[in-house]
Amino acid sequence: MKNKQTNISIFSKGDPTGQPVIFVHGFPYDHHMWDKIIDELSGEYYCITYDVRGLGASPPGDGQFTIETFVDDLLGIIEELQLEKPVLAGLSMGGYISLRAIEKSEHKFKALILCDSKSEADNNQAKLKRAQAINIINQKDLKTFLNEFIPSCFAEESIEKLGKEYDRVFERALKNSPLGVKGCLLAMAGRTDTTGYLEKINLPALVVCGEKDTLSPPPVMRGLQEKIKNSSFVLVPAAGHMTPIESPEIVVREMRKFLKKL
Ligand code: MLT
Repeated sequence: MKNKQTNISIFSKGDPTGQPVIFVHGFPYDHHMWDKIIDELSGEYYCITYDVRGLGASPPGDGQFTIETFVDDLLGIIEELQLEKPVLAGLSMGGYISLRAIEKSEHKFKALILCDSKSEADNNQAKLKRAQAINIINQKDLKTFLNEFIPSCFAEESIEKLGKEYDRVFERALKNSPLGVKGCLLAMAGRTDTTGYLEKINLPALVVCGEKDTLSPPPVMRGLQEKIKNSSFVLVPAAGHMTPIESPEIVVREMRKFLKKL
C-alpha cells in the first residue's frame, strides 16, 4: 500500500491483531533487505516494513529531506496503520532513524532492535566521504558509487556464498533514483548524535552486529549496547554489515528469543 500524503510504499505480513514489529532498512537498499526475517517472523508477529523516502518504490520528491523527515514518515506509518506499541527494528541508516524516533517518541514503542548501526553523528571524515559519494554520482553515475560502496557492506566470503542473491541486492540498489540516494547521503551527513540519549532509553533492546562489519564494527556497537540499561548484544559470526541478508538464520533466532521475552 501507499501512504496517501507521502506516497511511501508500505508492506505488511502476518496477523494484524498480533504484536506489530516495524522494520526500517539501511542505505542504499529497500524493504527487501528484511524478506527472510519477515518470512520467518510473520507466523508469530504482525510484520510491517516500508521503503524509506527516496529509495525502492518510495519516490524522492524534490530530494530535500533529513533524518527528521524520515522519522516523521515512520511515525506517520505507525499512526496510519494504528499500530499499538510496535517493536522497532532498524539496520544502519534504519538504526539512525530508529534511535532518533525513540529519542523523540519513546512512549510509542515497545522495544528496540538495532542491527549494524551506531549512535554517533558523522565526523568530518565521514562528511567528506558523503560529499565524495555525491560527486561520484554527479560526475560519473550511481553504478560507479555502488561498485565501491556495496562490497564494503558485506563480508568477502558472504559475497561469494550469496552469489546470485548478492547480484539481486546490487541490481535493486541500482534501480534507485540518484536523486533519492544523494538525498539520503545528505540526510545522514546532517543527522544528530543520539549517543547522549542511550542511557535514558527504558525500552528493552537487542543489539546485533556482524563480526566483520567494518561500517559499524563490533567495538562501536558493543559500546552502544553497554549504554542501554536493559539490553543484550549478539555478535553474528562471519557476517559483515548486512546481517539479515548474510546470516538470516542467526538473526531470526536471536530476534525470536528477544521478542518472546517481551
Ligand atoms: C547503511 O547501511 O545504512 C549505511 O551504511 C549507513 C551509512 O552509510 O552511514
